[in-house]
Amino acid sequence: MIRAAYLAAEDFQAPLAEELARRGVTVAAWHGRLALSSDPPVHAAWALDIWTEPREIAVASVKTAANALRAMQRNWSSYAAGLHRRTALIEAALPPVRSRPLVFPAPAPTAPLGAWTLLSPDRMLASPAKTSPFPNGECRFVADRLGPPSRAYLKFWEACTLLRRWPMPGETCIDLGAAPGGWTWALAKLGARVTAVDKAPLDPAVAAMPGVTQRQESAFGVAPEQVHWLCSDVIAYPARLLAMLRRWLDAGAPRHVICTLKFQGETDHAAAEEFAAIPGAQVRHMFHNKNELTFVWSRQ
Ligand SMILES: C[S@@+](CC[C@H](N)C(=O)[O-])C[C@H]1O[C@@H](n2cnc3c(N)ncnc32)[C@H](O)[C@@H]1O
Repeated sequence: MIRAAYLAAEDFQAPLAEELARRGVTVAAWHGRLALSSDPPVHAAWALDIWTEPREIAVASVKTAANALRAMQRNWSSYAAGLHRRTALIEAALPPVRSRPLVFPAPAPTAPLGAWTLLSPDRMLASPAKTSPFPNGECRFVADRLGPPSRAYLKFWEACTLLRRWPMPGETCIDLGAAPGGWTWALAKLGARVTAVDKAPLDPAVAAMPGVTQRQESAFGVAPEQVHWLCSDVIAYPARLLAMLRRWLDAGAPRHVICTLKFQGETDHAAAEEFAAIPGAQVRHMFHNKNELTFVWSRQ
């Protein structure tokens, strides 16, 4: 019996498999990027989405599949690891689900959303509950193609959406590892006051935005100070980043933290677990993350 299913981002099945093994979860089979397990669901940072109440349903026809889903709830999103045509036919027989890209800042949808897949033409796995409010964990935004100098702002937007909070006009932010300035651009667009720290210069258009102060120096030499938001996208070994984060948290300096935890090659799961063990922390592989996790935290 399948009791949980974990969806990895494309090319990130390996760290998810390693993490699940560390948590004592056995993966019975992979269905595309979906790890199927007969163990109860656990939190997994490397899963974009976790199906927490999956059930296997025999589906003799497209109609029986759609009826079975409709009988459980209204909103469903599909994951197709194959059988694309049959999946599309079932999807067409379901009520439409609006999953328009978000115009940031906007809250994540709150309507219950389930997920289903065809394990074979006549066997469906369907979970009325899952951890992400987005189809397959894909938090998509209407992009700004002109303003930001890098696409990194998308992961900042996604982290804010996950935290269900974002900087308010006039709030103070430190952006560590800020160049070329995607996050600083996003912070300044929200009307926050940003100190952008990087050894490299900011894009001049971002440096000139109202509320932006640039400091060209190492992020690791910045002494903790009272800020509403501590943001870091600095490239650093996780252990060094953790030591820096602890200094800021121990000083009671930030109210909120958004920070990426980057890996080179092998995933340092032990380091990720140390970040996750900080009370109030959420550590997640978001849709816009590459080989990195995002740490978000708010003072209680
Ligand atoms: C992934 S980029 C940041 C992208 C940025 N968040 C954006 O939105 O455009 C990582 C940055 O970390 C900076 N960096 C690496 N080591 C640093 C250090 N010790 N102090 C400050 N910045 C550092 C690099 O110069 C680089 O600009």
